[in-house]
Amino acid sequence: MTNTRNASTPLCSNAKLLEWVKEMAALCQPAQIHWVDGSQEENDALCQQLVAAGTFIKLNEKLWPGCYYAKSDPGDVARVEERTFICSKTKEDAGPTNNWADPVEMKAKLKDLFTGSMKGRTMYVLPYSMGPIGSPISQIGVEITDSPYVVINMRIMARIGVRVFQEIDKGARFVPCAHTVGAPLAAGQKDVTWPCNKEKYIVHFPETLEIWSFGSGYGGNALLGKKCYALRIASNMARQEGWMAEHMLILGVENPKGEKTYVAAAFPSACGKTNFAMLIPPANFQGWKVWTVGDDIAWIKPGKDGRLYAINPEAGFFGVAPGTSDKTNPNAMKSLAKNTIFTNVGLTPDGGVWWEGMTDEPPAKLTDWQGKEWTPAIAKETGAKAAHPNARFTAPASQCPTIDPAWENPEGVPISAFIFGGRRATTMPLVFQSFNWTHGVYLGATMGSEMTAAAAGTVGQVRRDPMAMLPFCGYNMADYFGHWVKMQKSVKFLPAIFHVNWFRKSADGKFLWPGFGDNMRVLKWIVDRVNGRAAAVETPIGFVPNYSDLEWTGLKFSKEDFEQVMSLDREAWAKEVVDQESLFFSLRARLPKELIAERQQLVSRL
Ligand code: GTP
Ligand code: SPV
Ligand code: MN
Repeated sequence: MTNTRNASTPLCSNAKLLEWVKEMAALCQPAQIHWVDGSQEENDALCQQLVAAGTFIKLNEKLWPGCYYAKSDPGDVARVEERTFICSKTKEDAGPTNNWADPVEMKAKLKDLFTGSMKGRTMYVLPYSMGPIGSPISQIGVEITDSPYVVINMRIMARIGVRVFQEIDKGARFVPCAHTVGAPLAAGQKDVTWPCNKEKYIVHFPETLEIWSFGSGYGGNALLGKKCYALRIASNMARQEGWMAEHMLILGVENPKGEKTYVAAAFPSACGKTNFAMLIPPANFQGWKVWTVGDDIAWIKPGKDGRLYAINPEAGFFGVAPGTSDKTNPNAMKSLAKNTIFTNVGLTPDGGVWWEGMTDEPPAKLTDWQGKEWTPAIAKETGAKAAHPNARFTAPASQCPTIDPAWENPEGVPISAFIFGGRRATTMPLVFQSFNWTHGVYLGATMGSEMTAAAAGTVGQVRRDPMAMLPFCGYNMADYFGHWVKMQKSVKFLPAIFHVNWFRKSADGKFLWPGFGDNMRVLKWIVDRVNGRAAAVETPIGFVPNYSDLEWTGLKFSKEDFEQVMSLDREAWAKEVVDQESLFFSLRARLPKELIAERQQLVSRL
C-alpha cells in the first residue's frame, strides 16, 4: 500500500464486515472512514497527525529512536473494573464476580451513547489477529475506533492490517469490537490532546461475541484485543471449544544441557509477569537461560501428543514502566529502547523519559505525567510522582533480546508447569507445589493478592483474584473453575502446578525475598521438579523445597532467612482459609464439588 491510496475505500469484501461498518458509521456519524492497512507509511502519517494535535511528543531521535510520548487525561489512567460488564443473557451466567446488565437494555444504552459519538473525527476500521496469522490457535477481531492512538498502539500489540482483511475474506470468524472515546467534536471545535468521556462502559456480549467500549482511550479499556478479547471473550470461546484463555506469561527455561522446559504463570495485574517472563538468571547460573514467549496472556490448547500447547496471542508488551530499570529488568529496557510509545511517564528536558525506579539518581528536573514541573525537591515535599504508577510502555515483542525463537510458532510451545502467584505481605510462602491437578486448580481458585494501580480502586487491599482472572473471566467464575477441573480429561501429560509469592514482608515492612533475577532459584527448583530432578517435603499445604534443594551460590540468604520466607503460620492460615471460604460461598450455586472436597482436605490437614 502507498500513502496515496484512498483510505475510505474498503480493504475487505466480506459482506458481514461491510454491513457492520456501514451500520456503525450511520450510528457514530464520523467525518470520515479510514480502513487501516497496517503499513509503515500509514503509521508514520498517523504519528505525525498526533504530534500536530499535541497528543504525541516525538522523543529525542538520538536517545529514543522511533519513540513517542503521550500523557492521558488524569481521569483516564487505568482499567475501570466498576464500569466493565459481562452482558450474558442471564445474570447467573456472568456470575457474582462480574458486573452484569441485561444485554437488550445494555445494547440500547450503548446505541444511545454511540449515536453521533464520532462527529468531527475519523472512524478507523482496524483488523487484527491475536496470535500469528494462520495459527490454529489464533483469532481475529475488527476494532472500529475514533482514536488514532489506539490504532498506533494496536499495531505494536497485535498483527494488524491487510493480511488480516485477507483472512476475513477467506472466511475467518471475526469479533466486532466497537470503540469510541465518546468525545464528538462540533464544527470548528478545538480538540483536546486526550479526548475521553467521564462516563465509561466496557461491555462484552459473550453469546453474540461482541465488544463495545465507550469513553476511555487507555490500555485495556481501549486496546480491545487485549483484556476484552483475548481474555473476556476468548475465555467464553475457550470454554465452548475446549481450550484455555489465561492471564499468564509464558517462558522457556533452558538448562546447561540445552533442554528447554516451558512454563506459564498467572500473577495479577502489576504483580510481576513482565519481569518474570524476561528474567536474567544470576551470574553463577552458567548455562541456564530464560526465553520469553509472552508477558501477559496465554492461549492454551491440548495438542495431538497429549500435552498442552500455548501461544502468546499478542505481538507487543504493554508493560508497567515504574520500577523497570537496567537492574530489575534489562531485557524490558532493551525492548523499549526504540519504536516504543510511552504513556504517563515523566518527560525530561532533553526529550527523553524517566519514571520512578528507572535510575537511582533522578533527573534534576522534568515534566511529570500531568504536565507539571517536577524536581526531586518537589517530589520530596509534595510526594508528586514523575510517572503515574500505572504508566506504561508499548513495545514490540520482537525487540526483546530473550524473545524465544519459537514465540511465533503457530503450534505454540508445550507447557510443563503452571505457576500461580499473588502479592502477599504475609501468609504465603515463597513457593510450594500442589499434590495433583485438582489441588493445583484449588490453589489457583483461592489465590489472593493485594490490589495494585493497574485498576482504579484501593491499592494494597488483599482481594481474592482466582487465577489472576477476577477482572478478566468472561463468564461465571464457578463454571470457569469447572472448566479447569475438566481440562485434565483432555490432557495426558498434565502440567505440574505451583504457587509462588515474591512479595512476603518482614514485620518492619521490608521484602524478605530479593526477587527479580533471584526468582531463578525458585524457577530452577520448579523446572527440576517437573523433570524429576529435585527433592521436596510434604506439608499440609503442598510440597516445599528444603533449604538445600535450592541453588544459593551468589546470594547471601541463610537457612534462617529461608525459613522465614517459607514459614507456615498456622494462625494466619486459619484466617486465610476463612477468607477463601467467602469467595467459595458467593460461588456456591455452581462451585465444582471437587474444589469443595479440596477445601475440606486442606482444613483437615491444617
Ligand atoms: P500487568 O501488565 O499489569 O499485567 O503487570 P505484570 O504482572 O506484568 O507486572 P510487572 O512485571 O510489570 O511488575 C509490576 C511491578 O512489580 C513493577 O513495579 C515491578 O518492579 C514489581 N516486581 C516485579 N517482580 C518483582 C519481584 O520479584 N519482586 C519485587 N519486590 N517486585 C517485583
Ligand atoms: C493489566 O491490567 O493486567 C494489564 C494492563 O496488563 S491493561 O492492558 O490495561 O489491562
Ligand atoms: Mn495484565
